[in-house]
Amino acid sequence: MNMLVVLGSPRKNGNSETLAAAVASGFCNKSGMAGTVAETVRLNDLAIRPCQACGGCAKTGRCVVSDDMTALYEKVDAADRLLLVSPVYFYALSAQMKAFADRFQCRWSRRYLLRQRFRQGEDRLGCLLSTAATKGTRLFAASELSARYIFDAMDIPQGPSFLAPGLEGRSDAKTRPDLLNEALDFGRKLAEQSAE
Ligand SMILES: Cc1cc2nc3c(=O)[nH]c(=O)nc-3n(C[C@H](O)[C@H](O)[C@H](O)COP(=O)(O)O)c2cc1C
Repeated sequence: MNMLVVLGSPRKNGNSETLAAAVASGFCNKSGMAGTVAETVRLNDLAIRPCQACGGCAKTGRCVVSDDMTALYEKVDAADRLLLVSPVYFYALSAQMKAFADRFQCRWSRRYLLRQRFRQGEDRLGCLLSTAATKGTRLFAASELSARYIFDAMDIPQGPSFLAPGLEGRSDAKTRPDLLNEALDFGRKLAEQSAE
């Protein structure tokens, strides 16, 4: 079973990357699970043009733009577990994650215009990991709603989210052993858990 971790923060080794690494480690080290592997990509290092709304995908379900997304579509399509990782920016996903997500309009076309389902009945799950500095009640609401429709377009059942408020400085998550353990456990459970 494989996991793809898509990092949406521009901050290397920041809070969301730290927690994502713990999730991946829990996933890979789940005792008794042979062959669990995780691959991580950092969106900020890639060239990803925002969706041009050209409609080019409507007939094929494929994006006509040629950039670093071409390889990412293959990785997402091959993923059994997909972890989308983003800090909260102005109560929503980071720009890096939003640009990546909008490029899945081609998969929305595949599912809803072309009526083609993808890897149906297979054990797949998509999860959101998000961090934020404050602790407001609706802090993650927009990101979770957005993630729900991103996974829907990808045709991946949505799994649980890992949400970590109260993290501001780059190394705050590293000083929270409780949170790191929760993230490890979250990763372990993703190796066991199936979509309902
Ligand atoms: C442009 C920007 C916008 C932000 N907006 C919010 C916000 O709306 N609410 C909040 O609680 N934190 C906000 N933050 C703080 C980050 O979500 C927080 O520091 C997070 O832990 C950063 O994660 P990272 O270390 O993985 O980059 C913002 C930070 C930046 C740079």
